[in-house]
Amino acid sequence: MKFDQPATINPIDRGKVVGIPHDRIDGPAKVTGSAPYAYERHDVAPNAAYGWIVGSAIAKGSIKSIDSRDALAAPGVLAVVTHENAGPLGKGSMNTAYLLGGPKIEHYDQALALVVAQTLEQARDAAKLVRIDYAQEAGKFVLAAEKDTAVKPPAGFGGDPDSAVGDFAGAFGKAAVKIDRTYTTPDHSHAMMEPHATTAAWLGGRLTLWTSNQMIAWAVKEMALTLKMKREDIHVMSPYIGGGFGSKLFVRADAVLAALGARAAGRPVKVALARPQIPNNTTHRPATIQRIRIGADRNGVIDAIGHECWSGDLPGGSPETGAMQTRLLYGGKNRMTAHRLATLDLPEGNAMRAPGEAVGLLALEIAMDELAEACSVDPVELRIRNDVQYDPEAGPGRPFSSRKLVECLRQGADRFGWAKRNPRPGQVRDGRWLVGMGMAVAFRNNLVGKSGARVKVDGKGGVIVETDMTDIGTGSYTIIAQTAAEMLGVPLEAVQVRLGDSKFPESAGSGGQWGANSSTAGVYAACVAARGILAQKAGFNAEDATFEDGMIKSGGRSIPLKQAAGREGVSAEDSMEYGDLDKAYAQATFGAHFCEVGVDMHTGETRVRRMGGAFAAGRILNPKSARSQVIGAMTMGVGSALMEELIVDPRFGYFVNHDMAEYQVPVHADIPDQDVLFVEELDDKSSPMKAKGIGELGICGAGAAVANAVYNACGVRIRDYPLTLDKIL
Ligand code: MOS
Repeated sequence: MKFDQPATINPIDRGKVVGIPHDRIDGPAKVTGSAPYAYERHDVAPNAAYGWIVGSAIAKGSIKSIDSRDALAAPGVLAVVTHENAGPLGKGSMNTAYLLGGPKIEHYDQALALVVAQTLEQARDAAKLVRIDYAQEAGKFVLAAEKDTAVKPPAGFGGDPDSAVGDFAGAFGKAAVKIDRTYTTPDHSHAMMEPHATTAAWLGGRLTLWTSNQMIAWAVKEMALTLKMKREDIHVMSPYIGGGFGSKLFVRADAVLAALGARAAGRPVKVALARPQIPNNTTHRPATIQRIRIGADRNGVIDAIGHECWSGDLPGGSPETGAMQTRLLYGGKNRMTAHRLATLDLPEGNAMRAPGEAVGLLALEIAMDELAEACSVDPVELRIRNDVQYDPEAGPGRPFSSRKLVECLRQGADRFGWAKRNPRPGQVRDGRWLVGMGMAVAFRNNLVGKSGARVKVDGKGGVIVETDMTDIGTGSYTIIAQTAAEMLGVPLEAVQVRLGDSKFPESAGSGGQWGANSSTAGVYAACVAARGILAQKAGFNAEDATFEDGMIKSGGRSIPLKQAAGREGVSAEDSMEYGDLDKAYAQATFGAHFCEVGVDMHTGETRVRRMGGAFAAGRILNPKSARSQVIGAMTMGVGSALMEELIVDPRFGYFVNHDMAEYQVPVHADIPDQDVLFVEELDDKSSPMKAKGIGELGICGAGAAVANAVYNACGVRIRDYPLTLDKIL
């Protein structure tokens, strides 16, 4: 169905099941180990052999020769796949580099061979016996060194890389208060818990993959392109996923090589990336250099705002779109944004949780803190003065579908006790700790996409929902069950949700924080279709039938749902589509982060003492799982502020700290207290669910709130993330 807003009758508005905090229905299966992950499908592939990937030891160049003879002769080895015997391979539309390299080598740890053996240990051992003779070429690995060679990239996901409104240079030149600063963010690793992993099996010419992937339909398409197969001959399943953060948006080497290995060995093969392979073999969030210029009057009202963002990627890659939010977040008549892309021979850059905004706000929200200080305006008040209710580049003709940023700022500040902050840095002490408070705005795009589902109602009143939507740890199972329960008037326990199978109707998938709103809207559409069939079977008019308490009711009559479904049951399938609603309305989610830190005056060690935030993201479908999304994302924000950094070896072009011991992410002891408030909002222009995305909003701005708190605590302004103690001292 087409989204026709606002719907006149919308059962979701009853809010009996949707909008109520529910435990995750997949929780018990997850914690008891009975939810099988891709590498654990012993049930379907009990005779699977094991594959081990051999990655490139150089970043750029080619293979002069590759000798697998010793590996093939090693105990238990069944096959060695290389570019020489893999047959012709294509490349997925979303992969920048080939997933099996050779003879050309595009980046360090690019997969060059797969060794398949009876056991994992035999495969790993024999992998060391594959002899590769390289012809090494010089590469470019350091963004700062290549910045001046960066060019305007072609229009990509976010549209034109540049934008200009009014006369930015003129207005900035004349502004009473000017901020002109450059900020840097390093390469980041997704560091999800479950590594990339696949079990692959062939039956005749048909391929079945149990894999860990966020976007099932994309996975089928990309595998078809890579293996030069027909999509209908590929079956992908990904019902349980141990985190993605964007690293599993499209297929990686594990999936392609498991398929090739299974074909070569003549039996199912499993491939998982070892943790140290992940940062260099897969994708990462690219480093950025960002210059921000803001011109304002003495009250902090912005007249000119400019944001330029430099990043690098392999040839044919994409920029990190760090300036995009600056087109929409604050007012000001004179504006410019620009993205520039340098060619680097590092591993492939790509999306990581809130690509664009996550690092864009790390920079912009420090710049706003610097502006607040320069104007002697409170940072919260500064944001309120520059709020705008429409797209400031397009003008008042393109309002936001909903925007409660000011409410987030006010309610968040109250709840956090912001009024107690001393605006002068370095004034508050607690023993050896210098204590400070900082805040930052959260902003993340709200994308919605076409999403489909199938709903079955059986003769016992049970409901089954099937869609290829994934649950990457986010709570999709639960909110989809809640949606079907609300729409069909049954208890949550009556709904069984089946996800992550390419045989199910195509969904929007899990990416870009569009999954929750889009996929439940697709389930809504399928339920509307099911209600029509059920009402008709009951002899009712679908328009005035209500579904509640397991009954269908109309005009004083009511019959049980299971009776209407009949012994044969009812099955309905539909999808929700949106047309070009985003042309009429700007859509985004908003929030305000607050943070208190202590900085050790002797060592420069920073400890987060507490965090709080208020967020407006439309209807919150499940406040419990939504809160978990936000606190997880805030935690990632702390990581980006204080510790996360892939270190580039400028000689050899690889990430040196490629494991969880040296790529540091926050642990429990780093995150003492987090408070999340959802500001009430229904967005009837976003979807029939009146919801928006929430999965990525929490990371956006969180790190800048930490950085601003560090400045308030000790008076050291750091513009180069992460804020490690050597930079503070
Ligand atoms: Mo997201 S970075 O689109 O999974």
